[in-house]
Amino acid sequence: MITLDQTRTSSVQPGNDAASPSGFDRAGHDSAVLDLAAIRSDFPILAERVHGHPLVYLDNAATTQKPRAVLDSIAYYYAHVNANIHRGVHALSERATEAHEAARKTVRRFLNAADTREIVFVRGATEAINLVAQSYGRAHLGPGDEVLITAMEHHSNIVPWQIVCEEKGARLRVAPIDDRGELILDEFARLIGPRTKLVAVTQLSNALGTVTPLRQMIDLAHRQGVPVLVDGAQAAPHFAVDVQALDCDFYAFSGHKLYGPTGIGVLYGKRALLEAMPPWQGGGDMISMVTFEKTLYNELPYKFEAGTPDICGAIALGAALDYVTKLGMEKIAAHERDLLTYATEKVGVLQGVQLVGTARERAGVLSFVMDNVHPHDLGTILDREGVAIRAGHHCAQPVMDRFQITATARASLAVYNTREDVDALVAAIRKAHEVFQ
Ligand code: ALA
Repeated sequence: MITLDQTRTSSVQPGNDAASPSGFDRAGHDSAVLDLAAIRSDFPILAERVHGHPLVYLDNAATTQKPRAVLDSIAYYYAHVNANIHRGVHALSERATEAHEAARKTVRRFLNAADTREIVFVRGATEAINLVAQSYGRAHLGPGDEVLITAMEHHSNIVPWQIVCEEKGARLRVAPIDDRGELILDEFARLIGPRTKLVAVTQLSNALGTVTPLRQMIDLAHRQGVPVLVDGAQAAPHFAVDVQALDCDFYAFSGHKLYGPTGIGVLYGKRALLEAMPPWQGGGDMISMVTFEKTLYNELPYKFEAGTPDICGAIALGAALDYVTKLGMEKIAAHERDLLTYATEKVGVLQGVQLVGTARERAGVLSFVMDNVHPHDLGTILDREGVAIRAGHHCAQPVMDRFQITATARASLAVYNTREDVDALVAAIRKAHEVFQ
């Protein structure tokens, strides 16, 4: 049980910006190597049985499961804190406001942003990208201007740009990928020109697992004075992100893929850019003064947070970030790298199976197809064995078109996955192969 005092040592402490993971010390995950049994016991849902089998959850790129620390944080918030923020003079409102702002500090630390004013809470990566498209994009794009993306983007980093390009008469340019699913960097560089107003790229492809050469891409764009938005929805759960070291201009991620709740996410933006951007949505909290003649907007980050936000979600996201920080993002990355190598070796040699996405730098995702078996059928058979994967186009239809397929089966990893999970996946795929032969 998290007590108020325990909560105050982390996300509720006003003005304390030191690293202070909360409620997880008792889990004792400080060893040099991750204690997977202890970690798994932090996630109650992993004890579920599915169709008579122990759950093997390998659909983490779609959403991750939540540790007890996050579940406790949600329950605690509604039992002891709940009130609206930035408005009330009463104790609960102050408590909720402090906890919400402390969560913002936790996010700042997690991303190594320079300033908490650069952290905007949104619904998720999708909303973060739409915010930039509608605010920065609409202000800066004109006829003939260009936005550059890559051929491995998720729909959420394609469609918002199509909408604003269509409205402004601008053009969406797409840097190609090769047969391994790697960005063709020379082509990317060639496509950045005087008309390019923004580059918007993923750090990790949700469909292929490719990790993009982000530092090089950002350098190439910046050399031409072009700002870069990074879709970090898939990357942020798998390795440490440092927005200052990357020097990206915007960074978007979702809470629910990072062991936090759904409905909460983050837009990081460099302060000077955010200051200069018009608000996206109007309403309460984003103003400093309203008359019928004129409205003055609030300071950052509130200018972009109209209406009552997901207060509990932000606080629970803070708990999730504390949890992974306590485990250590370097250790998480090393564990998942080892597991992906193991899974690639085991699945890649199975009869009738072809991997889709074989980039030299990959993380977290193993996409594959099987001869004569539709990925949906494969997914259904795996489910009967208790193995949860995703099958489909993964909201990345242009990636499927690039590989001339309609869908893949995708196993995706999280910190709590083990080699036994991969072995169960392999056994279930073998079973499916027998069924369909
Ligand atoms: N974008 C999420 C996925 O890749 C939903 O599955």
